[in-house]
Amino acid sequence: MSHTYEEVLEVRHWTDTLFSLRTTRDPSFRFQCGQFTMIGLPINGRPLMRAYSLVSAAYDEVLEFLSIKVQDGPFTQHLQHIESGEKLIVGKKATGTLVLGNLLPGRNLYLLGTGTGLAPFMSIIRDPETYERFERVILVHGCRKVGELAYYETITKTLPDDEFLGEEIRTKLTYYPTVTREPFRNRGRITDLIASSAFFDEIGTKSLDSECDRLMLCGSPAMVKDLHAFLAGSAFAEGSVSRPGHYVVERAFVER
Ligand code: A2P
Repeated sequence: MSHTYEEVLEVRHWTDTLFSLRTTRDPSFRFQCGQFTMIGLPINGRPLMRAYSLVSAAYDEVLEFLSIKVQDGPFTQHLQHIESGEKLIVGKKATGTLVLGNLLPGRNLYLLGTGTGLAPFMSIIRDPETYERFERVILVHGCRKVGELAYYETITKTLPDDEFLGEEIRTKLTYYPTVTREPFRNRGRITDLIASSAFFDEIGTKSLDSECDRLMLCGSPAMVKDLHAFLAGSAFAEGSVSRPGHYVVERAFVER
């Protein structure tokens, strides 16, 4: 069997287009923070599987996933109705490029995500190794609306008080939520932010420099494409397992 059946423990609906779910975890399931796996549901007697980043950290006892809801989406039209006690199919293997080992050593780690592209970064900001490797971790989450800033309370309230990681999170993690289509204290697209000195002044760093800055990108294909082009043109090399680089990219698994 290439997958296990896990029990849904909790479902949280953030907005009418965004939700997250927690399941049990098979003790044999191994992954690195930042990776994704396949999850699925039996549809017409067959498992329909999709790639989902793990929101949970590698050491968590449960698994967590963040998903959009698309009313006529082949997968999420079903997944959005899942309830506690029901079963979710979870692949036995995890993979993905958003892992620390794919990046060269550096000083600042920028995690740039839009929408559900936040998911792998929730895992990475809870990985102790992230804070061993980097002096500063800057998480930028871009959304259309304020209500889509999933895990806002977790990042701003729960994690800074975490028994084991609280100190690292309070001193090294900077969270910068930004909203594009509603009033909010931070406005604008990630691409515009990193092109402005005001953003770097606010977070207390200098504009991007391949000597000391490393990046992970995940989210809307348009955002990833634009940032990719920007970085490739600015002496930043994309990293992979065989060749660590200045940045790594994962496209969010948007339902088409
Ligand atoms: P905007 O509202 O200006 O389109 P989506 O919900 O479409 O996936 O978008 C999520 C967030 O990503 C939105 O804030 C959206 O901004 C932003 N976004 C979309 N395209 C780009 C892009 N090419 N570069 C940067 N941000 C983008």
